[in-house]
Amino acid sequence: MTPKSKARGLWASRMGFILAASGSAIGLGNIWKFPYITGQNGGGAFVLVYLACIVVIGLPIMLSEFTLGRKTQLNPVGAFKKLAPGSTWTLVGFMGVVAGFLILSFYGVVGGWTLAYIVKSVSGASVHFGSPKEAGEFFGTFIANPVEITLYHFLFMALCVGVVIKGVHGGIEKACDILMPTLLLILFLLMIRSLTLDGAMEGVSFYLKPDFSKISPQVILIALGQAFFSLSLGMGAMLTYGSYLPEEENLLSATLYVVLFDTMIALLVGMVIFPAVFAMGMEPAEGPSLVFSVLPAVFSQMPKGNVVSIVFFVLLLIAALTSGISLLEVVVAYFIDEKGWPRKKAVLVMGSIIFVMGVPSGLSFGIWADVKLFGMNFFDHADNIASNYLLPLGGMLTAIFVGYIWGTDAAQSEIEKHETEFHWVKAWSFIIRYIAPVAVALVFLAKFFK
Ligand code: PHE
Repeated sequence: MTPKSKARGLWASRMGFILAASGSAIGLGNIWKFPYITGQNGGGAFVLVYLACIVVIGLPIMLSEFTLGRKTQLNPVGAFKKLAPGSTWTLVGFMGVVAGFLILSFYGVVGGWTLAYIVKSVSGASVHFGSPKEAGEFFGTFIANPVEITLYHFLFMALCVGVVIKGVHGGIEKACDILMPTLLLILFLLMIRSLTLDGAMEGVSFYLKPDFSKISPQVILIALGQAFFSLSLGMGAMLTYGSYLPEEENLLSATLYVVLFDTMIALLVGMVIFPAVFAMGMEPAEGPSLVFSVLPAVFSQMPKGNVVSIVFFVLLLIAALTSGISLLEVVVAYFIDEKGWPRKKAVLVMGSIIFVMGVPSGLSFGIWADVKLFGMNFFDHADNIASNYLLPLGGMLTAIFVGYIWGTDAAQSEIEKHETEFHWVKAWSFIIRYIAPVAVALVFLAKFFK
């Protein structure tokens, strides 16, 4: 290990890397966001567009990010600077760091909701509902309380800071090793519960039967943004995690595993939520509160519902934390590599700034609910700017960079190090050079000119 890589840290094992990258990908995006935007955008048809975005655009871009990261062993800004010195491409890296700030600012708020619901399940406060409406009102009152929201938001950010301060191997990898497999197990159990509720099948059909009349340019942009968000792409999070990889790692299989795990979890969560939504006679298009009002209502009607509720929200917290730490790590890696800050200082200072930036998002459902610009509050703006614009744009520019500036040949030789054979190289190059950038551009155009 060179002195530099020692200071930055490396993953200790292959599985450790895959779990950490999956930990970044699997998060609130899968469990909280995927069901509510699927519910708002028509169910089955949206799921199909989403899957197409994952396979055609997400997968090849993830491979590109891992490759850029491992090649340069740097943060997003440093990576572009190293491969294209003196060019404006470093701006793409900067955009990633900015997206990291922005996403974590509202992500931390939802992470805080999750923490709060663990506490409320323990005390029994959130599992005594006679109807889903009551559960929804309880949630509405909770997120309107500025003090409680900010306190839990702070605690969530403190947890992220605590893990990231310990560095890549000691903190992030160790945490993900235990947490990710537990998550899968718990989701399976919940799916069985949900599917055996009376009236569950109507939810299954909403979720799996596509109604193509629901697809519009706006729906496609949202599906694309969700693919980037869920896979942690377009802002250098996967690039940064790739930068801690030793050379002998097989980037191809790592990419396949992470995409597979992330997609599996999202699809599984849909099978937990939609059967329950329909069985309870609720509205699938209810928005960000969906998971927080549907599930507590379900838990309330289950024997040992409070235990199930605790388990579920612990799971959600785990998922949120392993993603939150990857967002913070992008920002921190930038200050360590480019500004020479010690890790501790970078984590504490940036963690605090991001927390403060998130406070207005936290207040968006209560005292600042009426502070709106173009009809959207702070929270919606942060999410919309980051997920629907910065990430797809970042992903498109990353594809163009790898396709034309760094070059797919150079990328190929990085991928093929240590006798890895890249059978799909032609298809991958074609997608990176032509399909991915054009597809993202078309989606943007369709949105602006519709
Ligand atoms: N992929 C994470 C999720 O699904 C969110 C995330 C986005 C994390 C971008 C890192 C970078 O919750």
